[in-house]
Formats: sequence, structure tokens, C-alpha cells
Amino acid sequence: MEIKITPRQRDFILAEAGEVLFGGAAGGGKSYGQLVDAFLFAIKYPKSKQLILRRTLPELEKSIIRSAIGLYPREVFKYKSAQHEGVFKNGSIIDFGYCDSENDVYRYQSAEYDVIRFDELTHFTEQMYIYLISRVRGANSFPKQVKSSTNPGGIGHSWVKGRFIDIGAPDEEHLGRIFIPSRVTDNTFLMKSDPGYIKRLEKLSRKDREALLYGNWDIFDGQYFTEWNREIHVVRPFEIPASWRRYFVMDYGLDMLAGYWIAVDMYGRAYVYRELYESGLIISEAARKICKNSTEKVYANIAPPDLWNRRQDTGKSAAEIFAENGVPLVAAKNERVQGWYNLKEWLSPYRDEQGAMCASLRVFENCINLIRTLPQITRDSKNPNDVARNPHELTHAPDAIRYFVAGRPAPSQKLSTEAENSEFENQIERLLSFS
Ligand SMILES: Nc1ncnc2c1ncn2[C@@H]1O[C@H](COP(=O)(O)OP(=O)(O)OP(=O)(O)O)[C@@H](O)[C@H]1O
Ligand SMILES: [Mg+2]
Repeated sequence: MEIKITPRQRDFILAEAGEVLFGGAAGGGKSYGQLVDAFLFAIKYPKSKQLILRRTLPELEKSIIRSAIGLYPREVFKYKSAQHEGVFKNGSIIDFGYCDSENDVYRYQSAEYDVIRFDELTHFTEQMYIYLISRVRGANSFPKQVKSSTNPGGIGHSWVKGRFIDIGAPDEEHLGRIFIPSRVTDNTFLMKSDPGYIKRLEKLSRKDREALLYGNWDIFDGQYFTEWNREIHVVRPFEIPASWRRYFVMDYGLDMLAGYWIAVDMYGRAYVYRELYESGLIISEAARKICKNSTEKVYANIAPPDLWNRRQDTGKSAAEIFAENGVPLVAAKNERVQGWYNLKEWLSPYRDEQGAMCASLRVFENCINLIRTLPQITRDSKNPNDVARNPHELTHAPDAIRYFVAGRPAPSQKLSTEAENSEFENQIERLLSFS
């Protein structure tokens, strides 16, 4: 049997986390990767049991089963169509299953599997997934795993995103789960055999194109920051040059302290590099945490102007208490719509001088709550220029970043000159004097 695999398929096959998701663009080789992986597992572990699921029977028969029969050598694999069961010469079994309705899961009530594989996971509901993964067990020493593949979109989009994408950087295990992104260009086999494929995907509607061509998890109707794109805005942490100016910016309330450290490079481009996201902190505790995390010299601590309101109980403002606890604050502008417009400009993608896509504001991948919530906030139904205030939980991190850019236009996209740079610094000076 001669098979070649792509590097991403290899990563999927070797992934050892309890739950693995291979997800992204259409045609990246996810389903094929599942089949090769299932085959290798069946051969390596005689008498092992696996289940491969699609949501419906026709999908199962037309895609996975057909491909398995085509791919697996007849000398070692027999498919019994009445039972939807594949049997290997060494006693290993692959069941091919589907799950039309919530109640269908009980067909697997007494079953036990070493590995369960969901193809097109976003077609399943979370309840189906949770129930079915409880069938992964067995009194043998074979690895026990749940391995899924999918495109973004589909009825399960948001729970799959929450379970696998929002938990942290891809390609790293978090909470026993790992997300392995797949791009269409990973699949050199398809690129060679069907060079027109990408052109056809480019003709789809914006939403389908984002999901199927770019494997973008952040798109949905009503999204405010449609310019958001993980590929452009999320970056691997790097050592920040000492000469870059650092800022701290926050949104503070007892329900959530969302604080961000931001470094600005020589062209005025900003990198959000550290996150402090914690609920239930009174002001002195919040100040202590901020000081503890501010290991470098910070040029200004920026906060919303309402922190200067006097509180009836103490006669002091929150800003005063922050200052007494070692965090002197500078007031940001709080004109919402203008601030969101500024942020859109900062996020707007463009090509840098090397031709690579970039943006004026980018985020280190460790800032997981900002990365999770910024693409999720929606337009306000009454004023579509504003961001919806609900769900409130989504607004803390975006508000904080808005305070950073408020009244501060994004730097010029032609790499800016010294003059523009000093204009940026002048704005900070003005901010400082404003408080
Ligand atoms: N390693 C490989 N060797 C040969 N052909 C491959 C390989 N990987 C994928 N292909 C082929 O590329 C095409 C797309 O692969 P596949 O169906 O696995 O993609 P996918 O990511 O599951 O796509 P979709 O998102 O549409 O389900 C298929 O025709 C498949 O047979
Ligand atoms: Mg597929």
C-alpha cells in the first residue's frame, strides 16, 4: 500500500491529546487524514475497535465509506455493508456510524470503542458529542482518543469553537484538547490534481469563502469586527525590543478586570502582548495584580474616564484608589462609536513592504480572552455603528482595547515616517495632559 501524507495529516495522526480536532478549510485533507489514521491504528493494535461517524447515513455512505473501500487494501480489509462494519484480518474493527437525531446516540449505548472519530464535527450537537465520547473505553492498553475533523460553520459551530479554538493557541494541548488547523494549500495532492479548486472557492459568498477557503472560525452574521482574521491579527509571542514604548490599558469593574499590556514599534504599530483577565477583584487587589504583572517600565496606564467619578461611600474616585495603590491612571476618551471606528482602522489588513498581510494592531496568542471575544461582539440592533452591550461578558476585553485606540488614528499603512511617529507620541502627551 503506497500512501503519502501531508505534514498536517502527520500532525493529526501523531497527536496524543484525548480530544483532537483537525479543522479548517475545505479540501485540506482532513477526512483522508482520518482514514489513514484509522487504518494505521487498526493495523498497529490487533482487535482494536473504532467508530467513524458522519451526521447522516447518505453522507456516511457517499464519503467516508466509499473512500475507505477505495483506500484500504482488500487483502486486509473487508467491508460488510449490512452492518456498516469494516473488519481487518487482524481482528480490528471500524464501525461506520451516523446520528440523525439526538435519540440516535442510544444506538451506541452498550458499545465500547478505543477511538471515536467524528467527520464534520460541526454537523453534530454538543449533546451528541458528549454522549458518544462516553463510549470511549475498554479494558485494554490501547490509546483512548476522540479525533474529529471539520470545517467551520454548521449547527455546531459555536460549541466546537468554544471547545477547541477558544481554549488557547493552536497546535498546543490545553485541557486535554488540541486544535490542528488545516489549510487548503496544505493539500499538495489536491493542488496538483485540481489547480482550479481555489478559484472556485474564491467565487463563493464572503461568509462561505471565509469558512471554506480560509478556515476562518470567526465569521457569523452581525459580527462587528469583520476585518478580524486570526491569520493576520494573532501572532506568536516574540521578544519585544527594549526601545518600544509600553502601555497598560484596562477596563475595570468588580465583574471583570480586563487589562492589556501593549508595545508600540518604531512605525507606530501596536502589539498587545500580555493579558490580565480576572473577575471579583476590589480596586486594591486589582492594583496589586497590575503592579505584579508590570515587570517593565510602562509609559502610561490608560483607563476609562468613569473611574474618576467620586464614590459616595468613600468620597474618593476609583482612579485615586488605584493611584494610592501604585497605579496612576490616564483617562482615555470614551466616545464609543468613534472609538470602535478607530479600532476598525487599526485592525484593517494591508500588505506590508514584503507583500505579507499585516495590520496596525496585532495580538500575541497568549491573550486568549481578547482573541475569543473581539471577533464575537456584534452590532447594536438600535445603532448599527455601535457595538452591542450584550452579552456583557464579551465587552470587557474589546472595551479595554478601544480605550487604547480611542481618538488615536491608526498609523499610516505606508510604513510611517519619523514625523508621523512623533505625531503619535504627541497624542500621548495630549492624553497625559488631559488627565
Ligand atoms: N495524503 C493524500 N494523498 C492523496 N490524496 C489526498 C491526500 N490527502 C487528501 N487527498 C485528496 O484530496 C482531496 C481532499 O481531501 P479530503 O476530502 O480529505 O479533504 P477535507 O479536508 O476532508 O475536505 P472537506 O472539508 O471538503 O471535507 C480528496 O480527493 C482526497 O482524496
Ligand atoms: Mg472532509
